[in-house]
Amino acid sequence: MEIVILPDGAAVGEAAAARIAAVVRQKPEAVLGLSTGSSPLGTYRALAERVRRGEVDLSRARGFALDEYVGLEPGSPQSYAATIARDAVEPLGLDPARVRVPPGDADDLEAACAEYEQAMREAGGVDVQLLGLGANGHIGFNEPTSSFASRTRMKTLAPRTREDNARFFGDDLDAVPLHCVTQGLGTILEARRLLLVAQGEAKAAAVAAMIEGPLSAMVPGSALQLHPAATVLLDEAAASHL
Ligand code: GLP
Repeated sequence: MEIVILPDGAAVGEAAAARIAAVVRQKPEAVLGLSTGSSPLGTYRALAERVRRGEVDLSRARGFALDEYVGLEPGSPQSYAATIARDAVEPLGLDPARVRVPPGDADDLEAACAEYEQAMREAGGVDVQLLGLGANGHIGFNEPTSSFASRTRMKTLAPRTREDNARFFGDDLDAVPLHCVTQGLGTILEARRLLLVAQGEAKAAAVAAMIEGPLSAMVPGSALQLHPAATVLLDEAAASHL
């Protein structure tokens, strides 16, 4: 694992954007692994700035998001489909027709998850996967106890994750879905490069467990230790327990 400690969140976003831009400049039709949450927002902002300056063109790139809630009203602004459209597709100039989010509303979720994996394979696999880290060590929505071999599937959200994400639902915990679909750890590990960004003291313990702790299903992020091209970009606060 390559660990890069930077002075602040803005520098983390800049460094991640530079790496993604380098991949797309080499391969304009690159497949990007997109992620939600607050962690990647600085990366999207910095990358959008590069697009605006004409340094990189993402219009031919493809995108696959990591995860989605199950049980939200169609078109809900809290859905990750809406979040990815707002935070990534629009500012980055991605083609909406080339970006997919896991199915949260399919009648047959199992079949829809298998179809999502098939679509990722047919696209040639993910070239660079952007990741955040949950305070409990989750990546995507792979909560503690997720198998390192897991594939895209439905999961139950951990109480801690629902509490952490209640801020996106007007602080109403009851409004946060109980279930989600997420790419599995096995799916994520197949990306050619992994780029995990973490900022702030609240992530410091999870960051230390991911990097310095043993491989453990209780810390899903520790799966990155198995990947040959994983980079972790941290601000000083997130790196403070290393
Ligand atoms: C969310 C998402 C993850 C994200 C993580 C951290 O629940 N499913 O993909 O990386 O939790 O979120 P944040 O970046 O807002 O701290």
